Amino acid sequence: METKEERYRMLYSQISELIAGEHNEMSVLANVAAAMHDAFADCYFWVGFYLVRDGELQLGPFQGPVACYRIKRGRGVCGTAWDKAQTLVVSDVEQFPGHIACSSQSRSEIVVPIFDKRGEVYGVIDIDSTEVGTFDAVDRQYLEELARLVAESLAR
Ligand code: SME
Repeated sequence: METKEERYRMLYSQISELIAGEHNEMSVLANVAAAMHDAFADCYFWVGFYLVRDGELQLGPFQGPVACYRIKRGRGVCGTAWDKAQTLVVSDVEQFPGHIACSSQSRSEIVVPIFDKRGEVYGVIDIDSTEVGTFDAVDRQYLEELARLVAESLAR
């Protein structure tokens, strides 16, 4: 079994090939969510995108159980990551005030902002796990790199 770092590195090169040349954002995000879910099926319970639209986060492509459609700025882990424009690693969602429980099975979470060319938050990558403490600095580092890769492919 590879280390987490090795899995993220393989995922990064797979995704760079997968999205090269395609600029339909929903198609790209759908395939990225599928590739991420495939690579980490054992630890990602839910993986997907919320996109900033009309002043709120709206559900984008994802893999996993059905989820909330809309999240307000500053609400929950996703809305807070957007508001602060920074990655949030939550080891135990029950300890996060205002956590939005789309699924009662979700126990830990990481949310990584994706920035557009102007440095504004375009959306977030949200990943949930059914275990406490799944995500750490390694996930953060590699997922932030993935977010930059995705942002480049979306830039027109
Ligand atoms: N738990 C998230 C909401 C999104 S779902 O988990 C898919 C939050 O607090 O932002």
